[in-house]
Amino acid sequence: MRTPIIAGNWKMNNTIKEALGLIEEIKASKLNKDVEAVVCVPFICLSEAKKALENTEIKLGAQNMHWEESGAFTGEISPKMLKELGVDYVIIGHSERRQYFNETDETVNKKIKSSLNHGLKPIVCVGETLDEREANIEKDVVKKQIEKAFEGIEEKDLDNIVIAYEPIWAIGTGKTASSDDANNMLAFIRETIGNKYEEKKNDIRIQYGGSVKPSNIKELMDKEEIDGALVGGASLVAKDFVDLINF
Ligand code: PGA
Repeated sequence: MRTPIIAGNWKMNNTIKEALGLIEEIKASKLNKDVEAVVCVPFICLSEAKKALENTEIKLGAQNMHWEESGAFTGEISPKMLKELGVDYVIIGHSERRQYFNETDETVNKKIKSSLNHGLKPIVCVGETLDEREANIEKDVVKKQIEKAFEGIEEKDLDNIVIAYEPIWAIGTGKTASSDDANNMLAFIRETIGNKYEEKKNDIRIQYGGSVKPSNIKELMDKEEIDGALVGGASLVAKDFVDLINF
């Protein structure tokens, strides 16, 4: 049985004060205990968010990290720093990082390895652009992203990795992949993982992301391959995020 995981990706939203307000609202609601809930907050909110989440089941996530433990990397945050703050998850290779901050399959791979070495659980993002989907090469693109991301990753580490399939054309656009299309791609990702890690194929959790909201979560989660969602916009509204956790 794969435990469903709903993760909110706040992106560059919420000051510390706003973050605490949102967390208090989420905490005040009854949440389905069978679903793992994660909030991936901006770096500066991590410390306060950790305190606010004490005595709750909600996990804390960061949205990025550098792969080195320390050094001359101005403006970067290391896995050691995240670990000390009590962070559980870290999003790696989000399409916005790939698109705007030159994240590549190579840096994604380094970050995954480093996060695992520091006891952080990576949420590894993959997904194709609209052009790639229209050219019918979305599976080739995602396969390559997965293969590169998992280079040198040991089978035992798969228990601590979550994959998020996020078609770029569906992020923040209001367009969701149909639940069948999403399920189909997730099945393909599971096959790709299975080619290398036969034993873990049915254990690894795979999320869908891209305009997930209360009105479409049920249909998505009803699909066999979809184990959860990585949610941007709707995770910024307490009631919506709570509805997603309680799908
Ligand atoms: P969205 O973002 O839910 O606003 O489409 C998803 C994501 O980028 O993780």
